[in-house]
Amino acid sequence: MNPSSELGADLKSLIARADEALVRSLPPEDAPPIELHRAMRYAVLGGGKRLRPLLVYAAGHAFGESGSRLDAPAVAVELIHAYSLVHDDLPAMDDDDMRRGRPTCHIVFGEAMAILAGDALQALAFELLAHDVELGVAPARCVEMLRVLGRACGAEGMAGGQALDLAAVGRKLSLVELEHMHACKTGALIRASVRLGALAAGAPDEALASLDRYAHAVGLAFQVRDDILDVEGESHVIGKTAGKDAAADKPTFPSIIGMEASREHLQRLTDDALAAIQPLGAQGILLEELALYAAARLR
Ligand code: IPE
Ligand code: IPE
Ligand code: MG
Ligand code: MG
Ligand code: MG
Repeated sequence: MNPSSELGADLKSLIARADEALVRSLPPEDAPPIELHRAMRYAVLGGGKRLRPLLVYAAGHAFGESGSRLDAPAVAVELIHAYSLVHDDLPAMDDDDMRRGRPTCHIVFGEAMAILAGDALQALAFELLAHDVELGVAPARCVEMLRVLGRACGAEGMAGGQALDLAAVGRKLSLVELEHMHACKTGALIRASVRLGALAAGAPDEALASLDRYAHAVGLAFQVRDDILDVEGESHVIGKTAGKDAAADKPTFPSIIGMEASREHLQRLTDDALAAIQPLGAQGILLEELALYAAARLR
């Protein structure tokens, strides 16, 4: 199968499903505190590739689950992701004014409301995930899912990776340090997405290790692609300001190993992801498509 920058029909319909679940899950715009609710909805709805929810659905599909118990983890990972982007764009962090082709949340709602929207989205993610117990996920599994998500967003995961990212500005990292930073910053939530889908589907424990190898490779590949797009992409296509990494002196794959080696690395990571899910056979078709998409996407 060739890398594709487009998703097939099955995954496109799962995007629609994720979008519907997100709309249902967010607080209404006409109930107080109206400004906070509006900022939360703005941050989540209207754009975004929904890669993390798709990974939840694809991992669930690989273990024969397509029911509503996948919706809560799919929504939860996207809420965490959206919150991380709102905070990532703040002046104290990357100071970006464009996201998903629109002004960033703090530009529209102000910094204080953007911080609170991020906080509330994070809390909502855990609250919703806990509901899976009512849909028949065993309580011990559900607690495990909450733990997986918590770890992925915290100091060992996304927030820790963001701290490493900020501390690395203007420094020259080794490739190992760079990969560690990326594995935390972006990779942790991507790994959690795959694991949550598998856990909600009741996947056997022995399947989780190879699935995790897949997710680790896809997570890194995804961020390598993000770094490449920051150099090569055009703002109107990627929906965010191109060239920001170099302007802010951020260590990235292209800045450390060069563009050519970055592409080769991306290919190796994709090969590794595909090799890891080979035992799943045809059941892994959606996971396979997502690994190829993560490496080839244009936005
Ligand atoms: C952007 O993530 C930030 C990174 C972790 C690289 P996405 O590229 O998934 O952003 P959206 O959700 O599609 O806007
Ligand atoms: C963002 O990484 C990662 C998280 C939000 C956790 P980047 O700072 O590279 O993402 P973009 O390029 O702003 O989307
Ligand atoms: Mg950043
Ligand atoms: Mg950023
Ligand atoms: Mg980036």
